[in-house]
Amino acid sequence: MTEQPTGGRERDRWGFAAAMVVAGVLLFSVVMGLIVLPVLQAPNAGIDPWTAICRAVGLKAGSPAQPQPPVSATAAPVSQVRWTPATLKILAAADPRPGAALAQAVCSACHGEAGLSPSTDFPHLSGQSGAAIYKQLSDFRSGARFNAQMTPVAKKLTDEQLAQIAAYYGSFSRRAAALGPRYGIGDAAISRLANRGDPARALPPCESCHARGVGGPPEAPVLSGQQREYLYRQLRAFAGGQRGNDVYRRMRDVSSHLSDDEMHRLAEFYQGLS
Ligand code: HEC
Ligand code: HEC
Repeated sequence: MTEQPTGGRERDRWGFAAAMVVAGVLLFSVVMGLIVLPVLQAPNAGIDPWTAICRAVGLKAGSPAQPQPPVSATAAPVSQVRWTPATLKILAAADPRPGAALAQAVCSACHGEAGLSPSTDFPHLSGQSGAAIYKQLSDFRSGARFNAQMTPVAKKLTDEQLAQIAAYYGSFSRRAAALGPRYGIGDAAISRLANRGDPARALPPCESCHARGVGGPPEAPVLSGQQREYLYRQLRAFAGGQRGNDVYRRMRDVSSHLSDDEMHRLAEFYQGLS
């Protein structure tokens, strides 16, 4: 009387088959994932099959991450100066008079009266562009450029004083004509290098950034009339990495293509330009 309809039995059979398929897939995954694959890969990882299985099921800690080689690069402070409209406005508005008093009291001891240094140990400041002086003082102060004598001096100056001093030294239109003997003007090869560069070495002309009057990047210093000893020392320092405050590595790149002899002759050439 209570006989099951054939449709119900049919459903049970399919349900059982489906359950078996699911169980089969599960078992297959467990065997593959926890036993077969770990055992097969154990030799690659340099461990025995048993350890591999224990790691796969989570009974043992997995292999630690490969130790990374220690980073050898050291952090170097880079220039903090940005030529934003705000910075340019500070420079343009700076009053050179307090700058003159400070220069007289502090800087002239080394950089000479009115920024013309009598000693080759110190660069001339007179006639340097205000932006270049501001940039270098800021870099000495922040540590982007270091010099045992200049760094402590710069650290004592406020932002406003930096701008005032830059305005004072930048107000001399030219370096004095009587800067000493003229060198290197007749050096045609070096004059060509300075004015045209050397495409074979990917060397841009010095003149493209250190043009007389105004030049490329605002901070490019005036080179003409500067002491050759100082110019040479700076080229060497850029090439050797002791000076690295040039934004975009412009001078480190340029100087790395120059020979020692060229550095000497370029320094003489620029000292001789008025
Ligand atoms: C104790 C000596 C000393 C005093 C004082 C001194 N300087 Fe200097 N200054 C130096 C030396 C040395 C250098 C060259 C640094 C180098 O070779 O890297 C230099 C470099 C500079 C430069 C970089 C010039 C360039 O063309 O790159 C600027 C700018 C400068 N000084 C400004 C000043 C100002 C402004 C003062 C006064 C507030 C001052 N210095 C006081 C010794 C001095
Ligand atoms: C792409 C532009 C560029 C070119 C090309 C270039 N310079 Fe410069 N140079 C600069 C800038 C910018 C600085 C200032 C770096 C800083 O901010 O400290 C500088 C700084 C220098 C200084 C340091 C001067 C000082 O008062 O501290 C010397 C020396 C110099 N350059 C020489 C050369 C010579 C020589 C050449 C050609 C062989 C040359 N440069 C080509 C952009 C340039």
